[in-house]
Amino acid sequence: MTELLRTEGLAKRFAGLVANEDIDFRLEAGTIRCVIGPNGAGKTTFISMISGHLSPTEGRIFYKGRDVTPLSVVKRARVGIARKFQTPTVFDNLTAYQNVELAVLGTSCPSHKRRQRIFEVLDLIRLSELWDMPVQFLSHGQRQWLEVGLLIGVEAELLLLDEPTAGMTAEETGSTAKLVQRLARDYRLSVIIIEHDINFIRDLRAPVTVLHLGRVLREGSFDEVAADEQVREVYLGQDAG
Ligand SMILES: Nc1ncnc2c1ncn2[C@@H]1O[C@H](COP(=O)(O)OP(=O)(O)OP(=O)(O)O)[C@@H](O)[C@H]1O
Ligand SMILES: [Mg+2]
Repeated sequence: MTELLRTEGLAKRFAGLVANEDIDFRLEAGTIRCVIGPNGAGKTTFISMISGHLSPTEGRIFYKGRDVTPLSVVKRARVGIARKFQTPTVFDNLTAYQNVELAVLGTSCPSHKRRQRIFEVLDLIRLSELWDMPVQFLSHGQRQWLEVGLLIGVEAELLLLDEPTAGMTAEETGSTAKLVQRLARDYRLSVIIIEHDINFIRDLRAPVTVLHLGRVLREGSFDEVAADEQVREVYLGQDAG
């Protein structure tokens, strides 16, 4: 398998507080990785360093073999690393179509293929029937999907999703798991996904990295991680698994 992302000894300290420490992480192209852990474990800090929103105190980040540690957020976006924040940042007064169009306009997609490409993205995020709906009238879940659609629209290769199902209905959460699986399977996108919803993590059937106190506590399949004594102690509790 081809390595897409690797971190070596990644650390972030805030005035003495250790948010991340000694994180060696590896992600293959076209795969999904779940990152879980208790509140304050360092999950958001970790993806903020990958997206370039935070610079590491120590360590290096390699993307497709290239050291991207010094690159800004904008430059990392240009090489294919894109991040979705917890609150959707879509344009409320524009339609779903226009939002995706703005994303696609920044790519090399020729103008005669643009419409087709926009509908391909809208289809994927289940919004093609609502294409001309101003985004302010979409549900919370649909707006979250639209933001994922914008990342696809800009042709990101590595998607960083921080709690994408927060506030979604159970049905929307289920659809999100299917969407993420499809992105990896059909589009060979790679996804790092932070979530607290354990049922969602289980549904993804992807390897899991558990962070605790800023360090990697365990890595493995959902079942391996869920059965781990230490993981259960610090995070999942007795009723998980
Ligand atoms: N900008 C900052 N300045 C100071 N401390 C910070 C900053 N960002 C995060 N921290 C601290 O770093 C630690 C890790 O925070 P982080 O947000 O990465 O955790 P998390 O795993 O994403 O938690 P949650 O599940 O609550 O989102 C916490 O103790 C947090 O208070
Ligand atoms: Mg967080």
